[in-house]
Amino acid sequence: MKQKLELQTTTLWDYPSQQHREEDEDSHKYYTGATPTYIIWNLLMRYTKAKDLVLDPMAGSGTTIDVAREIGRRALGYDINPIALKRRDIFKSDARTLPVEDEKIDFVFIDPPYSDHIKYSNEPNCIGKLNALENEYYEAMESVIKEAHRTMKKDRYMALYVSDSYEKDYPFMPIGFKLFGLLEKYFLPVDIVSVKRYNKNLNKGHWKTAAIEHNYFLRGFNYLFIMYKESDKTIVQTNEGTRVNLADRRI
Ligand SMILES: C[S@@+](CC[C@H](N)C(=O)[O-])C[C@H]1O[C@@H](n2cnc3c(N)ncnc32)[C@H](O)[C@@H]1O
Repeated sequence: MKQKLELQTTTLWDYPSQQHREEDEDSHKYYTGATPTYIIWNLLMRYTKAKDLVLDPMAGSGTTIDVAREIGRRALGYDINPIALKRRDIFKSDARTLPVEDEKIDFVFIDPPYSDHIKYSNEPNCIGKLNALENEYYEAMESVIKEAHRTMKKDRYMALYVSDSYEKDYPFMPIGFKLFGLLEKYFLPVDIVSVKRYNKNLNKGHWKTAAIEHNYFLRGFNYLFIMYKESDKTIVQTNEGTRVNLADRRI
C-alpha cells in the first residue's frame, strides 16, 4: 500500500517512494532516470487547473504526461528519443526547437540530463552527451529554458528538477546554481525546493566507503526550481520606476 499523497508544505520535499501508484512501481527498472511521480503531482495540484495544457519537452518515460492526465489536465510530451518506450503519445523533437506555437502552454516541467552520466540514446542532439564541466551543456540548457518561456502563456509557472554532479578527480559541478542563474534571465523565481533522493545506490556499502575514503559527498537531494512567467499586470509603473506586483496572479 502506497503512502497517501499530500501537498508538501515546506521547501524540503520527502516521499519515500519513486512512484505513488502501485502500477508504476517498476517503471525505473525499464527506464533509468524517471522523475518521482509525487513531484509532478504536487506541482500540478498547486500551479494548474482542470484542462490546463502541461508540456514536458524532455518527457523520457512519460511521467509528467501520465500524472497530468490522471488528474484531468491535458498534456504534451516531446523527447529527442521518444522511441525508448515505444509510446505513441510522446513525439520526437529537440527541446530547443519545439513544434509548439507561442504562448500555448499552461505549465512546463523539465527534468533534463544532469551532465553525461546516463546514456539515454545515440541521438546526436541528446543533451545527455554534454558534460556539465563544459559551457556547451549550459548553452544547450539555456536554449531549452528559452523555448519553454516562448511556448508558455503569461502568468503561468514552470519547474526544473536537477541535481549537482561530482566525478572523482574532477571539479565539483554546481549545475543547480548555474541553471537557476539561466532560469532567472527569463522567469521570476517562485521558490527553491530541495527534494530528498531515495536512490538505492546511496545505501550501498561500497558507495558509502568510497565517499568517506575519497572525501566527497553522495548526492542527497535534487533542486526543484519553481519559476513564474510574468504577465503585463505584474509589472507596475510607479514614480520610482517599475516594480513587480504579484497580487493579481491567476493561481
Ligand atoms: C532525466 S530524463 C527525463 C525523465 C522523465 N521526466 C521521466 O520521468 O521519465 C531526460 C530526458 O531528456 C531527453 N533529452 C536529451 N536531450 C534532449 C533534447 N535535446 N531534446 C529533447 N529531449 C532530450 C533524454 O532522451 C531523456 O529522455
